[in-house]
Amino acid sequence: MRSFMGRDILSLKEFERSEFLRIFEVAQRLEPIARDRRNSDMLKHKTLVTAFYQPSTRTRLSHEAAMHRLGGHVTGFSDAKMTRAGDYYQESIKDTVKMLEFYGDVIAMRHFQKGAPQEAAKWSSVPVINGGDGWGEHPTQILTDLYTVLRERGRIDGLRWLALGDMRMRTMHSLGYALTQFDCPVTFVGPPANALFPTSPDMRMPEEYKADFRQYGLNFNEAEHVEQAIATADVILVEPVIQADYSQSRQEAPKERPLTPVNFKITRELLMSKAKSDMVLLHSLPRMDEIPPDVDITRWSRYWQEAFYGVVLKMGLFALVLGAVE
Ligand code: CP
Repeated sequence: MRSFMGRDILSLKEFERSEFLRIFEVAQRLEPIARDRRNSDMLKHKTLVTAFYQPSTRTRLSHEAAMHRLGGHVTGFSDAKMTRAGDYYQESIKDTVKMLEFYGDVIAMRHFQKGAPQEAAKWSSVPVINGGDGWGEHPTQILTDLYTVLRERGRIDGLRWLALGDMRMRTMHSLGYALTQFDCPVTFVGPPANALFPTSPDMRMPEEYKADFRQYGLNFNEAEHVEQAIATADVILVEPVIQADYSQSRQEAPKERPLTPVNFKITRELLMSKAKSDMVLLHSLPRMDEIPPDVDITRWSRYWQEAFYGVVLKMGLFALVLGAVE
C-alpha cells in the first residue's frame, strides 16, 4: 500500500481497496474523540487551509471540525470573492496556491472547474484534498458514504447499491470508482434528456465514466425508474435532479423550480412498500424535494449520521496525510 503521508487526495480513481480500508481503520480508531465531543492534541502543530471557490456547508465545515478535533488550526476562505482570485485580478490557481502552501500544512479545495484541485496540487508542496471539483469528483464525500455504510451495516462487501439522481454529479463519479474496489453491484438511475422539462439535459451516467467503470471491473447497470431497483438495494445514495450548475462559482435559485418526477424520488410510502427492512438511505445533501422531510424519521435514513461520520472520516484522512499515523 502506498503511504498517505504528504499525498494529495484528488480522485478515487485508482484508489486501492487496502487504502480505503486503512483510512476507515484509522478513522474508527479516532472516532471516540468526536463521539465524546472532545478535542485531542494529535495535530496541534498543523494547520488546515480551506480554499473554497464554491459554496459549501458540510464539506468545508467537516474538514474544519476534523482539524479542530485533532487539535490543529484552521485558516482560509469560503468565498473567492473575498480574495484576489474573485476580484479584478482573477488571480490564477498557481499564484494563489503558491501563497497558500506557506499558510498551512494541508489545503482542502472546492472549485467550480473540473480539475482545479489537480492544477493546485501541481504547484503545492503540501497535500491538496479535493472537496469537489465542478462535475468531476467528490472523493471525501464518497469516503464518508462508505464509512457510514461500514459503521451502520458492519461491512461494505456484499451490499447492492442504488444510485439515484443526476449522474453528472461529482459524487456519482467518485462512487463508481470507489465501488470498483468492493463486491458491490450498483444500479444508476438518472434522468434522460427532456425528462424534467423540455430541453432538460441528459443526466444519465456519462459515457466517459461508464467506460472507466467497465475497465476497472465495476458490476453496474442502469434503470429508468427507482422502482426498478429499490427492492433489492441494501444502500441507496440519492442526489438531486433539480439543482445548480456545478461549473458555476455561485448560482441563485430561480423562483420557479420544477418538481422531481416520481422516477427519481424516495418517498416514505415507497420505502414502506418496497425497501428492504435494513436498507441504508444516504444523501450527501443539500436536497430539494427528492427526499421529503417525512422520510427523515424512518429507520432507513442515515443522512444525519453521515454528518458525524464525515468529521470522523476526515480526522482519519488528516492523521494519515499529515503523518501522525503511518
Ligand atoms: N455534501 C456536500 O458536498 O455538501 P456541501 O455542498 O454543503 O459541502
